[in-house]
Amino acid sequence: MVTVRGWVTHLRSSGKVAFVVMRDGTGTLQCVVVRTQVAADVWEQFSRLTLETSLSVTGAVRAEPRAPGGYEMGVAGIEILGTSPIDYPIQPKEHGIDFLMDNRHLWLRSSRQVAIMRVRHEIEQAIHDFFYEREFVHVDTPILTAAIGERSGLFQTEYFDEGFAYLAQTGQLYGEAAAAALGRIYTFGPTFRAEKSKTRRHLTEFWMIEPEMAFYDTNDNMQLQEDMLVYIVRRVLDRRQSELVELERDVSKLERVRGPFPRIEYSDAVSALQAKGSEIAWGDDLGAEDESLLVADHETPVFVCNYPKAAKAFYMKENPADPRTVLCDDCLAPEGYGEIIGGSQREDDYDKLLARIHEEGLPADAYGWYLDLRRYGSFVHSGYGLGLERTVAWICGTPHIRECIAFPRMMHRLRP
Ligand code: 4AD
Ligand code: MG
Repeated sequence: MVTVRGWVTHLRSSGKVAFVVMRDGTGTLQCVVVRTQVAADVWEQFSRLTLETSLSVTGAVRAEPRAPGGYEMGVAGIEILGTSPIDYPIQPKEHGIDFLMDNRHLWLRSSRQVAIMRVRHEIEQAIHDFFYEREFVHVDTPILTAAIGERSGLFQTEYFDEGFAYLAQTGQLYGEAAAAALGRIYTFGPTFRAEKSKTRRHLTEFWMIEPEMAFYDTNDNMQLQEDMLVYIVRRVLDRRQSELVELERDVSKLERVRGPFPRIEYSDAVSALQAKGSEIAWGDDLGAEDESLLVADHETPVFVCNYPKAAKAFYMKENPADPRTVLCDDCLAPEGYGEIIGGSQREDDYDKLLARIHEEGLPADAYGWYLDLRRYGSFVHSGYGLGLERTVAWICGTPHIRECIAFPRMMHRLRP
């Protein structure tokens, strides 16, 4: 006899034989109650069960090929732990997305959402393992910062007598300081963008993994990105088959994610896009449609490198082969999932970096410590940021990234 605790997900009864399907977070179990074989009070307990009642069932487990998971329990005893009124909001029928998002705290219990969270966890663990195996040091960078970071919107809050503090848009600049101390590091944390974007790939709070490597140039940087993505995909394929089945993911597409990934120069990408009918002009950033067009011919992620200076952040290193551009890359996921990584070699020349800070109208005094990294032993270095939710969305095959984090924060969503 074994005892299992969990929540009811399905109920059905013929009057003589009853089935309770329950879940406990690790899987589902079909429990069978035969009226003539159990005490009257056990049958009575069954009749009180509702969707999402929490319960403890005791019985003998046997192989049953028709049951989900291949086993079922012949029930001898049922104990109700927590009742659940019959108005449980999420019923086995179609619900609108706003309703599901309002009930995210309950929606999270459904099998598809559980599968996504498990794949997300596997990806997170794979990333930690990937960097640990390569002797990178995990460094935690601050979330409350003085104004410093990327160009898009800042969330601000009052900070004692210091004026405003801003929620970090990136850990990179601190990561660069840490790389000068430790050689190769990565950050893994939440980042914040007050962007008024309502697309399927924007959150206002998302998780980013940002490695930073001393003595890596832009080519070393792309190689590391490629190795990491291949590692993550392999790991999910190896360990999360049942979740991918639950998600109805076409795994043959993931199986084809192998190096080398194509590296396309920005200027060539613009010509190729124009040939495909895009309106893009040299100097523009790639739009979502351009990204989809560009990856359409490939089965692996694609790097687009060396964008025009004006389209990218101030800290990227000028390209010696074409000073209109910088040494950077965007890594675009296949199947139209778009940019999942942004990376670059960093400007290591003090004067050039200071000039870029002035050009961008940034407050040079706030960047004093960052400039110090170019005064005291400047070094060739590179790094990148992987967007976790976008990576989860691609690997799970979910169209919108709001399902790829337990409690998404978006322009119009702060609850639950
Ligand atoms: O390209 P981004 O803005 O690069 C940086 O922040 C650099 N500091 C990274 C670095 O070099 N250390 O952002 C990196 C990635 C994007 O490719 C995307 O995957 C994700 O972060 N990202 C977002 N994900 C969800 N919602 C948003 N609003 C995102 N903005 C960026
Ligand atoms: Mg980017």
